[in-house]
Amino acid sequence: MALLPPGNFGLPFVGETLQLLFDPDFATRRFQKYGPIFKTRILGRPSVFMAGPEAAEFILSSHIDCFTWRDGWPQSFKILLGQSLFVQEGEEHRRNRKLMMPAFHGAALARYLGTIATLTQTYLQQWEARQELIWYDEFKQLTFDIASCIFLGSRPGEDTTRLSQLFTTLTNGLFGIGLRKAIAARNEILDYLTQVIQTRQQNPTDDALSLLIQAGDDHGDSLSLEEIRAQAMLLLFAGHETTTAMLTWICLELARHPDILQRARTEQSQLLALSSPASLSSPPLTLEQLGTMPYLEQILNEVERLHPPVAGGFRGVVKPFEFKGYQVPAGWLAQYSILQTQRSPEVYTNPEQFDPDRFSPERQEAKQKAFSLIGFGGGPRICLGIAFAKLEMKIVMAYLLRGYEWELLPNQNLEPKIIPTRRPKDGLKVKFRRKEEKSSWF
Ligand code: HEM
Repeated sequence: MALLPPGNFGLPFVGETLQLLFDPDFATRRFQKYGPIFKTRILGRPSVFMAGPEAAEFILSSHIDCFTWRDGWPQSFKILLGQSLFVQEGEEHRRNRKLMMPAFHGAALARYLGTIATLTQTYLQQWEARQELIWYDEFKQLTFDIASCIFLGSRPGEDTTRLSQLFTTLTNGLFGIGLRKAIAARNEILDYLTQVIQTRQQNPTDDALSLLIQAGDDHGDSLSLEEIRAQAMLLLFAGHETTTAMLTWICLELARHPDILQRARTEQSQLLALSSPASLSSPPLTLEQLGTMPYLEQILNEVERLHPPVAGGFRGVVKPFEFKGYQVPAGWLAQYSILQTQRSPEVYTNPEQFDPDRFSPERQEAKQKAFSLIGFGGGPRICLGIAFAKLEMKIVMAYLLRGYEWELLPNQNLEPKIIPTRRPKDGLKVKFRRKEEKSSWF
């Protein structure tokens, strides 16, 4: 009979939960010691951690029926994000995902471009006036404003500031800090959403919420008020914290690599030269232009690889399975590691190095093996917001590269902090200003 995977269950009940929460190298050290699968105990449950493209494919695609999402997340997720896609399974999940999909792809994305661009430009002006910033905090406000304007049709101002504070309390509760306060915050968010939904039902607009309200499937089925509220809350939660962390890492890596920054700026100035006749001093970014920024895309892929905001995904094991000769019983928790999979030396040369050219057409390292770039998950439950998030990050970065400069301030801790999303500990403090030889575009 196959053996259980190698590893250590740690202390009775708590197991190794504290190490997981507070040691950013928890999994790395154990993968180095035990190989691509090890056992531990977290949150009172025997668990396995699995890494590498094969492990990711196993959990996300080929053996998906051995796992559930619902039982993978801590109880706080079920309490706070109940009735949303995050904790749904099977037919219910498939139906709801299909109903929500059009709001985040294709024609809908083209409509969001203008809102994202306008909000980004407003923030850039504020940052320029401020001169010194903690970028994580600023990106969080910007991405929250973008999410609430696009998903709910809110106007930036009082409502979004209050909502953003409620979401901070909700997020803390998801990760075990202040559940009671988080439930109160969730109820306040849901009350707010009820009002917005009622207004939208009477006066539909073209925000994602209106699309959800109007969405129907082939059988004429649509989402109930309860469902729309829960899904909208999930989208606001999932749709800003992650993008914030990734934008922060992009700006940090560009500050650390002036040669890469320069190449990215050159790509933007070439695009501008092509698209901007002298008579047009400020042409808006178009979807077409955004589709022709291959070097910026390489940078985004490399940041997704080296600094994934979500370090791994949890699942409940519902059917026993065997992986690499080890047996894992039903009832255990499983995590597929995004961070370690994307640093696999068998796929990536010098995996610890920031090197956007590994995604160049000549090298295409990630194409060697399926499931080796999984910062947005993979398989049928790949991130719903992947196209939206990439569009948003590209727009923000295009404006930053075209018109602004930043340098790192001294005395800050840039080591990663992993909860709730992986990001530099002090949030990235920078000096920010308009680029000196600015183009006529600004
Ligand atoms: C850089 C930004 C983002 C990153 C890195 C990211 C990452 C992820 C990952 C890794 C998963 C899968 C987790 C797992 O397998 O356990 C996921 C799922 C999901 N994400 Fe994102 N995400 C981002 C942005 C967004 C945005 C903008 C939205 C909202 C529009 C969103 C909505 C969702 C939803 C609803 C799911 C669950 C999908 C399902 O179960 O079918 N995400 N995301």
